[in-house]
Amino acid sequence: MPQMKGNRIMTGAVTTIIALFSCALPAAAHDDLITPNGDLIPYLLMAFVVAAIITLALLYFNRVLKRGIERRTGELKRNQESLRQVIDLMPNMIHVKNREGRFLLINRTMADSLGSTVDELTGSLHSDVHPNAKEMERIREDDMVVFDNGFPQVKMEEPYHFVDGSIHWLQTTRLPYTPADSDEPAVLTLAVDITRRKEDNEALQKSQDELQKLNEELEQRVEERTASLAAAKEELMESLDQLKQTQEELILSEKLAALGGLVAGVAHEINTPLGVGVTAGSFLSDNLKDMAKRFDQGELKKSDLEKFIETGTESSKTLMTNLNRAAELIRSFKQVAADQSSELRRPFNLREYVDEALLSLRPKYKRTGHVIENHCPDIEIDSYPGAFMQIITNLLVNALIHAYDEDDYGHIVMDGTVENDKLVFTFKDDGKGMDNNTMDKAFEPFYTTKREKGGTGLGLHIVFNTVTQTLGGTVRMTSEPGKGTEFTITMPLSEKTV
Ligand SMILES: Nc1ncnc2c1ncn2[C@@H]1O[C@H](COP(=O)(O)OP(=O)(O)O)[C@@H](O)[C@H]1O
Ligand SMILES: [Mg+2]
Repeated sequence: MPQMKGNRIMTGAVTTIIALFSCALPAAAHDDLITPNGDLIPYLLMAFVVAAIITLALLYFNRVLKRGIERRTGELKRNQESLRQVIDLMPNMIHVKNREGRFLLINRTMADSLGSTVDELTGSLHSDVHPNAKEMERIREDDMVVFDNGFPQVKMEEPYHFVDGSIHWLQTTRLPYTPADSDEPAVLTLAVDITRRKEDNEALQKSQDELQKLNEELEQRVEERTASLAAAKEELMESLDQLKQTQEELILSEKLAALGGLVAGVAHEINTPLGVGVTAGSFLSDNLKDMAKRFDQGELKKSDLEKFIETGTESSKTLMTNLNRAAELIRSFKQVAADQSSELRRPFNLREYVDEALLSLRPKYKRTGHVIENHCPDIEIDSYPGAFMQIITNLLVNALIHAYDEDDYGHIVMDGTVENDKLVFTFKDDGKGMDNNTMDKAFEPFYTTKREKGGTGLGLHIVFNTVTQTLGGTVRMTSEPGKGTEFTITMPLSEKTV
């Protein structure tokens, strides 16, 4: 094109020169020009000079123009090439097709996907080179929608076959477009290969799904574990309840055993005065029978009667003393046994009650050499004598079993004072005492250091429960190895002082 323009200028220049000549020549023929000093200037010469100058100028302009055109052409070519380079370097597929489906422009990435070159594909029909007919049909339909509607279209995800048979996933943008060098409408397509991203997303989704599944499994397992733990706890609570029941039963049987022991001891104790009484009674009866016989036979002498009166008085005295003793034993036992089994509240005298308790417990200690003293004052208390008896029994039995060796002579003292409207009762032995470990555990149920000798470990536990629950008091124990043990029970004097 610039070349054509240069030629036209040249033709113009030559035409002008010829025109000038044709004007100058007739002028030269008719009007000769005369100089001031009368010289004649020849016209022809002048015409030549002018024509030469114009020709030279035109030639010069032509050259300048030519160079400019060449430079512009070069620039345009370079621009086109670098644009080509840019679209070929793009990793995305770019192409422009006309309505017929012919490639007006195609980049290398797109050409690669079709297994061909840019040059070969430019101008050819897409449908002739696409490897999948069904897919091509769809592409064509999508292209036509853009042609017909004139709006851009974006497809977020569509499958696309490469010529090597691999299926890729594309995100495609179709734009209605009119190329600068023609009026024919076209569609510019830009496709981004999202296969990797899709695969990554799918892998991510898969691992998320797996994670979710794992999480659900975990939750399920936690639920199952929680349920089995709850069941185990339930079972544990049940066995704990059973254990408590067994413990209560054992405590009860220990109490009953103590009562049984008391009965046996008292029975044994009563045996002696009763035996003596029976002997004295039968002696008296024999003597009486003998006297009656002598009287019947008329052989009764005054001296016999005197002797009978003497032995009879003696025997009946023995009889009375022993019967009284037995009656006293029975009375106190009855009281103690009734108290112990009924757990009734009633007023009682502390000193007298401790005496009675000691009398009932005598069979347990009478063969030992221990001195047992009751220093309790004469005070009335309104409480549970049965519970009190239980405590004294357990503490005394413990002192006898645990505090002393067989040939020891111990000293056991019970005392009581009133402090702040409360009875402070102490039970003290001067035996072996306890080490720290035993002291820590002594009140625990079933803790015993004499299991092999029949210890149940319930004695002090019962003391603790009875003091705290029945008497509403507290119990404190001090002990030191070799220095004996002392129990201090603080309890209300009566219900009013609770
Ligand atoms: N007076 C005491 N002197 C020394 N140790 C004692 C005394 N009383 C109790 N103990 C200790 O406390 C333990 C617990 O006593 P206890 O509960 O009555 O059970 P048990 O008499 O059946 O052993 C005893 O085994 C013993 O070691
Ligand atoms: Mg005991």
